[in-house]
Amino acid sequence: MNFLTIIAVAVCVLAPSAYCESSTVEWCFHDPKCSDSTWSTIAALYCNGTRQSPINIVSANATENQNLTEFTFEGYGNKSALATIENTGDTVKVNFYTGVKISGGGLSESYDTLQAHLHWGNGTAAPGSEHTVDGKRFPMELHIVNIKSSYNRNTTLAVKDSEGLAALGFFIEELTGVDDQPASWKTLTSYLSNISNAGDNKTMAEDISLDDLLSGVNRANYYRYLGSLTTPVCNEAVVWTVFKEPIKVSKNLIDLFSTSMYIKNSTSLMVNVYRSIQPSQPVSTQPKASSSTKSGYSLALMTFALMMARY
Ligand SMILES: *[C@@H]1O[C@H](CO)[C@@H](O)[C@H](O)[C@H]1NC(C)=O
Ligand SMILES: *[C@@H]1O[C@H](CO)[C@@H](O)[C@H](O)[C@H]1NC(C)=O
Ligand SMILES: *[C@@H]1O[C@H](CO)[C@@H](O)[C@H](O)[C@H]1NC(C)=O
Ligand SMILES: *[C@@H]1O[C@H](CO)[C@@H](O)[C@H](O)[C@H]1NC(C)=O
Ligand SMILES: *[C@@H]1O[C@H](CO)[C@@H](O)[C@H](O)[C@H]1NC(C)=O
Ligand SMILES: *[C@@H]1O[C@H](CO)[C@@H](O)[C@H](O)[C@H]1NC(C)=O
Ligand SMILES: *[C@@H]1O[C@H](CO)[C@@H](O)[C@H](O)[C@H]1NC(C)=O
Ligand SMILES: *[C@@H]1O[C@H](CO)[C@@H](O)[C@H](O)[C@H]1NC(C)=O
Ligand SMILES: *[C@@H]1O[C@H](CO)[C@@H](O)[C@H](O)[C@H]1NC(C)=O
Ligand SMILES: [Zn+2]
Repeated sequence: MNFLTIIAVAVCVLAPSAYCESSTVEWCFHDPKCSDSTWSTIAALYCNGTRQSPINIVSANATENQNLTEFTFEGYGNKSALATIENTGDTVKVNFYTGVKISGGGLSESYDTLQAHLHWGNGTAAPGSEHTVDGKRFPMELHIVNIKSSYNRNTTLAVKDSEGLAALGFFIEELTGVDDQPASWKTLTSYLSNISNAGDNKTMAEDISLDDLLSGVNRANYYRYLGSLTTPVCNEAVVWTVFKEPIKVSKNLIDLFSTSMYIKNSTSLMVNVYRSIQPSQPVSTQPKASSSTKSGYSLALMTFALMMARY
């Protein structure tokens, strides 16, 4: 496979599905001929690399990093920011209008938010998040894909930069013991019956924001590592942020994904749309409150010692 093909496919991951049809790398989740066990062969240049995603996060191994401050989310409260929702044949994807972005969070510059999509298994009974934490797999995972603002949405340039893309991963867990379905997820999933076939898309009404979909999650606590796109051609260009607290969604809404979406040219339902776990990477997280107190204390001691030394 030549380099140009690889770039074409890399752009395809982030572009409308019509553009993707011209790609020559046929990958899939379901057929043994093109499922994830083949990606390291059919897209070997990157999918067989050494910083591949997703990973299992071992919480006890996450090192403390003071740089992992809070994010600033711009446009996340805007109920008019969600433009379209589509069935790509491999996932459900929401595209955003311009003006949605993130900064802070230990990122080197601001990143424009391009799209969000989901990974799932087969209902709540067969969980399908991509990342796992201490071996636990959640029912679903939401990915919000962002590109360095300086690239002006040019994904060809971004995938050549080891931190060109910033992905935000949110686990989705079953909401139990409450009758109320989260209204935002009820609204989002109400579109599914209208995009059941691959290639279908709908313009979204101006009634939900990203903040609505992320409600209840403390976005100050997260894991950070450097990894890749989780679909071919798996470019190692992604700063990953995996939030610790899951979004809570009721079982009936989670189950809608695996019971109403169909894959390309098929009567098969879209189930188990996630890549398997890749070799581990160094992961960092916010310092614990106790240890920041401790380091503040030792800094005070050190300052005191230095002051004494002058006299
Ligand atoms: C993938 O990488 C491994 C280790 O570097 C190598 O042994 C293997 O041949 C590679 N596979 C492909 C399909 O390139
Ligand atoms: C986690 O740390 C332990 C102890 O240092 C080590 O044995 C293990 O390989 C690490 N696991 C991962 C996934 O990094
Ligand atoms: C924190 O950021 C500073 C400045 O960019 C950098 O020099 C340092 O290596 C970072 N620390 C960690 C643990 O990443
Ligand atoms: C919300 O997004 C829409 C669509 O991009 C935009 O026209 C509008 O100005 C945004 N509103 C605010 C308050 O930024
Ligand atoms: C998914 O779950 C349904 C209902 O539980 C079951 O009939 C179906 O065989 C499962 N599909 C896969 C691919 O496991
Ligand atoms: C992205 O940047 C490359 C390299 O500068 C350029 O060739 C290409 O035309 C740009 N693509 C878009 C869509 O602007
Ligand atoms: C979805 O389709 C139903 C009919 O199947 C229609 O009543 C509804 O308005 C459509 N919703 C959207 C958001 O297009
Ligand atoms: C959305 O679907 C319409 C047909 O219903 C199609 O003309 C359009 O190109 C699609 N848009 C995207 C972004 O896929
Ligand atoms: C679906 O099947 C038709 C006819 O077999 C074919 O022309 C088309 O390219 C297929 N589309 C996809 C997305 O595979
Ligand atoms: Zn994803």
